[in-house]
Amino acid sequence: MVDLWVEFVKSLLIIFPAYAANGFPPLAGGKIPIDLKKKWFDNYRILGDGKTFEGFSFGLFAGFMIGALEAYLYPDLNSYAMQFGVKLPLINLFVGFMIALGALCGDLAGSFIKRRFGLKRGADVPLLDQWNFIIGAVLFSFWFTEITIWMFLIMLTITPVVHRIANIIAHKIKVKKEPW
Ligand code: CTP
Ligand code: MG
Repeated sequence: MVDLWVEFVKSLLIIFPAYAANGFPPLAGGKIPIDLKKKWFDNYRILGDGKTFEGFSFGLFAGFMIGALEAYLYPDLNSYAMQFGVKLPLINLFVGFMIALGALCGDLAGSFIKRRFGLKRGADVPLLDQWNFIIGAVLFSFWFTEITIWMFLIMLTITPVVHRIANIIAHKIKVKKEPW
């Protein structure tokens, strides 16, 4: 039997850098859209004004810093976990970077999909808005660390809940326009 608690704890190492990468861009006050205001063949914006270079860079930096902190702590954390027979997924600087980069690219992919459906910037699409960055983070990093299917499913399950709560707070403290 898989121990879901163990899988949850392991998934936190992936979740923290990914959440940082996703949570920090709104604080950047970005101005320059990554799509440079260009439109796709359907005459809708490629990504829209919500995806900026500043936000991307800031998110990448923040996610990478959390990954770097984890990489620094990893040897100690892992030897501690090993006492309980648990091997933690490897986090080094490269894995941390890939988690953050993947989260941001997943977020771009999410916006790309939203624009293809003609949805305006900031439109609320349940699950797509919350899963895009998790799927991106996992897709970019699982080649280099150990992510089990259970960890992935746990991340998909808890992220919409955490995301909703975090966005309501971000809206209240006026970091985000919409409470989602
Ligand atoms: N943001 C940014 N650059 C990014 C990602 C996010 O500047 N690469 C900022 C934008 O100010 C954006 C805010 O963070 O409005 C919230 O991000 P998100 O909810 O992902 O974007 P939305 O505005 O909802 O746009 P979309 O409809 O494309 O998801
Ligand atoms: Mg949004």
